Amino acid sequence: MPTVFIKTFGCQMNERDSEAVAAQLVAKGYVLAPSELVADVVLVNTCSVRDLAEQKALAKMANIVGVARKNGRAPLLGFMGCMAQSRGRQLVETLPDVDLVLGTQKFHRAAGYIDDLLAGRRDQVVDTDEEPGSQSAIREHLLAGNSGKAVTAFVSIMQGCNQHCTFCIVPSTRGAERSRTLDDIVSECRELVGRGVREVTLLGQIVTSFGKREIPVKDGKSAFVQLVEAVHAIDGLERVRFTAPHPKGYGDDLVEAYGRLPKLVECAHLPVQSGSDRMLKLMHRGYSRERYLGIIEKLRRVQPGMGLTTDIIVGFPGETEADFEDTLSLAREVGFDQAFVFKYSQRKDTPAAAMPDQLPEELIEERHARLFEMINRIAAAKYEALVGRTVEILVEGPSRKNAGRFQGRTRSNKLVLFSGSERHRGRLMDLRIERTGSFTLYGDPAVVGMDDATESAVTTEPGLA
Ligand code: SAH
Ligand code: F3S
Repeated sequence: MPTVFIKTFGCQMNERDSEAVAAQLVAKGYVLAPSELVADVVLVNTCSVRDLAEQKALAKMANIVGVARKNGRAPLLGFMGCMAQSRGRQLVETLPDVDLVLGTQKFHRAAGYIDDLLAGRRDQVVDTDEEPGSQSAIREHLLAGNSGKAVTAFVSIMQGCNQHCTFCIVPSTRGAERSRTLDDIVSECRELVGRGVREVTLLGQIVTSFGKREIPVKDGKSAFVQLVEAVHAIDGLERVRFTAPHPKGYGDDLVEAYGRLPKLVECAHLPVQSGSDRMLKLMHRGYSRERYLGIIEKLRRVQPGMGLTTDIIVGFPGETEADFEDTLSLAREVGFDQAFVFKYSQRKDTPAAAMPDQLPEELIEERHARLFEMINRIAAAKYEALVGRTVEILVEGPSRKNAGRFQGRTRSNKLVLFSGSERHRGRLMDLRIERTGSFTLYGDPAVVGMDDATESAVTTEPGLA
């Protein structure tokens, strides 16, 4: 049977899409290859959000072509995802060895097209058309390499985004908002729990807009909060997460849900982008600095130890030193547990690309360095403050980076490493934090015998981690 390797760039949505394509191929008898060097089919799942991400995927494909030629091999090559969607046919014109270009509404067609290409029924496929209902097509899971031992899983709940932030290419690569049905999502989650999953992360480009048009507000609860409640009610599920929300989706119903639903972990990724009202308006973000800070305050009132992360863009067109200082002061005021700082990147056909006063690269670099330093200093202190504390983790399995250790995450999504073993997989454990590394905590079971740890009477102070 043919072997396949998928290289994924970009966000968790892309990881989920790759997983679904892999599962689809495995179900047809394809075998997953350990690397692109030996695979009969090599797919590159791409990101378009910044130019750097596109350049990386293009360089990767050029390298795959070069190495295959040198080794006298001719694997079937495909691009899929956001860059495939935005560049389409242009990709096969610049890289003629590429056989397949699969847009963001076509993942479920991957196996069919690959079969056709391998059988010689087609020479080349470029399919970036819209496809109604494609949001419901990403269903198949490949749990922990299909060993069925995964403790956590991503579940796609909606696709696309209608917010049209002026810097962002996502509304054009992923299309307009389309939601799956609530029943469909809940039954997928239930099935995953039946297969051993203990934590689900609900995924979408703007999850807080889930079901807005289809599901009416009920008892003051938005469609998204209704979904979170329905998933929360699944027996055997321990934790619910979601990403990415939009700050404007944090109404009182969602804030209040954190206090009411114990499986909803106290953790929120709230992309702020800028601390300057002037920039927020030019970015078309739909909230002010004050409203954003108000949401943070309310969340902390409900859950004092709320883990807060964000995305920030520096160097948006027209950003002055004063605007940038507003961002610095917001970051200081909130004290994020982690923040992703991005240098503004001009994207094709976005309104911001045509705005006057695009900033020079050196200035963007300089602001990036200043903010990055501040963010890391604050975050390091947040991690340091956990030393000596007891935290609850959900054990995911062996550490990916640190051989010999096991890993889990705190409720606020901080990575914890400890010396564990297979029998801890899928268990909730209390660990005492001994020391910190770069965005990593090192823990030890909180009570004498590790065996007793999950049954221990040691209580995690609410909201500490
Ligand atoms: N809601 C989406 C956002 C996707 S883009 C999600 O997380 O799925 C992720 C982040 O990339 C954004 O929050 C923003 O901070 C950054 N980003 C988007 N477009 C960008 C651009 N043109 N230049 C720099 N950073 C950008
Ligand atoms: Fe992009 Fe803004 Fe939507 S960042 S994904 S247009 S909320």
